[in-house]
Amino acid sequence: MPSGAMAVNPNILEMEYAVRGPIPQRAAELAAGGMQVISCHIGNPQALGQSPIYYYRQILSLIEDPSRIGRERALKSLLKRLPQAESGLSKEGEFSSEAALEMGETILSRLGTGVGAYTESKGPAFIREAVARYIDERDGVTDSDGKRSDPENIFLTNGASEGARFVIETMLADPKDGIMVPIPQYPLYSATIRRCGGVQVGYFPDEDAGWTLNRSILEEALSSARDGGVKVKAIVVINPCNPTGAVLDDDDVKDVCTFAREHGLAIIADEVYQDNVYGASFVSFAKAVGRDELPLFSLHSTSKGFHGECGHRGGYLEVRNPPRLEVGSGNFVDILLKLASVNLCSNTMGQVLTYLMVSPPKSDSDLHARYIREKEGVLRALHEKAVMIRESFEKMRGLFCFGRIGAMYLFPRLGKLPEGTTDFDYCMRLLETTGLCTVNGAGFGQKTGTWHLRIAFLPPKEVLSNVLSKWIDFHNGYVPGE
Ligand SMILES: Cc1ncc(COP(=O)(O)O)c(C=O)c1O
Repeated sequence: MPSGAMAVNPNILEMEYAVRGPIPQRAAELAAGGMQVISCHIGNPQALGQSPIYYYRQILSLIEDPSRIGRERALKSLLKRLPQAESGLSKEGEFSSEAALEMGETILSRLGTGVGAYTESKGPAFIREAVARYIDERDGVTDSDGKRSDPENIFLTNGASEGARFVIETMLADPKDGIMVPIPQYPLYSATIRRCGGVQVGYFPDEDAGWTLNRSILEEALSSARDGGVKVKAIVVINPCNPTGAVLDDDDVKDVCTFAREHGLAIIADEVYQDNVYGASFVSFAKAVGRDELPLFSLHSTSKGFHGECGHRGGYLEVRNPPRLEVGSGNFVDILLKLASVNLCSNTMGQVLTYLMVSPPKSDSDLHARYIREKEGVLRALHEKAVMIRESFEKMRGLFCFGRIGAMYLFPRLGKLPEGTTDFDYCMRLLETTGLCTVNGAGFGQKTGTWHLRIAFLPPKEVLSNVLSKWIDFHNGYVPGE
């Protein structure tokens, strides 16, 4: 071995993650050289100017610095005794609202040890209980109808990514174990399966039918994997989908459940975009599974939706019907707990944010109106920006965008490209010409012979409208004529 050289884990060496791959790396170089880069390669809303939800930040700041609660109370009572003109401090927003102070106190007293201490490895029980109530309310589950979510089967995680990794790492017991993954997919799944040394079994939602699913697509993928000796253990469904935006309807979700039940598979439901449906209804897998005994792992996050708190790394994993272990007496949740214990606990501010995500301000709270205004404002703006981009696609030769708008992305098919080039070349040239940073379809997987790109519809409208006209010119100059 040459001095200083070291063999590294080949699974990690071969792992790929295009969302932070060569195109964004080139974008960083161009930005350092002074070019205005519009970062549409990643779903990172606050990096593109989205303001944090006031309710979340008010309370997080009180939790981080609890001494503010007493100080603000004392100042408020002092100000009440001063004539308003003299204080100059009584304007709205100078102080935390009473509801925020009370919520801060409640959370601190339930945490007991503040946010600087480790918590239970699964996360504090009161937060897991709140998550379970949120899931039941979302799905309309009552004692007489459906199966209640169990707080003991909920893990608070550092983003949904960690939850996905916990499940996949635990599930893949042998190099021939496989997990079904939609193609195209968010590369967390391909990367994690690769890292854990398992087999990725791709299934291909029907692009021309709006990226919908049907039984034959699933059956085909499963039987060819089984014919190749792969032991398929689970199916990943991303709903709404990154990168395609597809939102599954009730029938699609039930179809996946029937398929999984008939073939003895677990379901890994990535539902981090459940609020990004823009008028459609979100159907959760937990609701569709109902009283069935089907093993289900559902993921949610504070990073997406209208929350946009990617950097806070909050999220949860909910397990239903955990499989028994082949050896010994425990079940899957016991092993997940062991895994979570090695990490000690997820970060506490992410845990608190997850609590706030599942506990919005009550309608009689003075924080409610602003929360609703901000939530609806973020979702409306996202939808409007997606529509604006789609309208530009109509002016681009040979480019088609199938399906409805969901999640935070559009995934158009590029049509014919210059001889010998790929969607990677297209995206790189698009970046270098216009400053628009996207990710080429190959980064997510795609049917052989098709080319795509993914664009996140996050930058401010004015920025987008400026770059869209440049993109139309670039595109029509780059792709071959009819
Ligand atoms: C489908 C999907 N799942 C999971 C994640 C990761 O989310 P988190 O920030 O919660 O780890 C993303 C991030 O873009 C995503 O698109």
